[in-house]
Amino acid sequence: MQSIHRTVLLNEAIDGLNLKANSTVVDATFGGGGHSAEICRRSPSAKIIALDQDKSVSKNKASSCNIIFYNENFRNLDKVLEKDEKVNGIIFDLGLSSNQLENSGRGFSFQKDEPLLMTMKANPTSWDLTALDVVNTWSEKSLADIIYGYGEEKFSRKIAKGIVEARNQKKIETTFELVKIISKSVPGVYKRGRLHYATKTFQAIRIAVNVSDFFS
Ligand SMILES: C[S@@+](CC[C@H](N)C(=O)[O-])C[C@H]1O[C@@H](n2cnc3c(N)ncnc32)[C@H](O)[C@@H]1O
Repeated sequence: MQSIHRTVLLNEAIDGLNLKANSTVVDATFGGGGHSAEICRRSPSAKIIALDQDKSVSKNKASSCNIIFYNENFRNLDKVLEKDEKVNGIIFDLGLSSNQLENSGRGFSFQKDEPLLMTMKANPTSWDLTALDVVNTWSEKSLADIIYGYGEEKFSRKIAKGIVEARNQKKIETTFELVKIISKSVPGVYKRGRLHYATKTFQAIRIAVNVSDFFS
């Protein structure tokens, strides 16, 4: 898939790697490959060990560098690296790529009407946590805590209350249903602000769904 992701802090991040000739660098969150491409442009002799857990991500471009790509969660980095392999630098660009927000069909964005999944896993099983589980089964307090803690949303309690009231009527199944609930829960003046009123709640739920992948 053609990448539409615009890499953030590109120069700053690559400057920080302090690349030398024949460096081995790990790009732990390959995404659209923007950071790897810049490493390669500056240091064509580099060996890049690239990982991304999203099955729709692949080493999409021919490259003058030696890029070895693994569809792996970076928590398995030790399995991917050859024993005693010396690594000179590692880059983590945590979060979502624009491709995932726009094209995944997994409900990451409040601007698209999609099923409430929000998991980074391309083919989640019934064991994997999804946004559907979070909004339909977590307690009002847990919802308020994550919406405040991960989203810094000042109306977290009102939104959590709105979610619980709505799910008592009907299971919440899509992103647009959730947006409507948030809209009903926050004051009118908040909805006229620069930032869309659902931004922080969606951010919080995305983190809640995927946080265990970073730390387990
Ligand atoms: C912000 S994007 C990276 C963009 C990339 N640096 C670029 O310039 O195109 C973050 C990427 O990290 C991946 N990712 C998130 N958590 C991960 C994990 N635990 N292991 C491996 N990849 C992960 C996502 O699938 C996503 O493609």
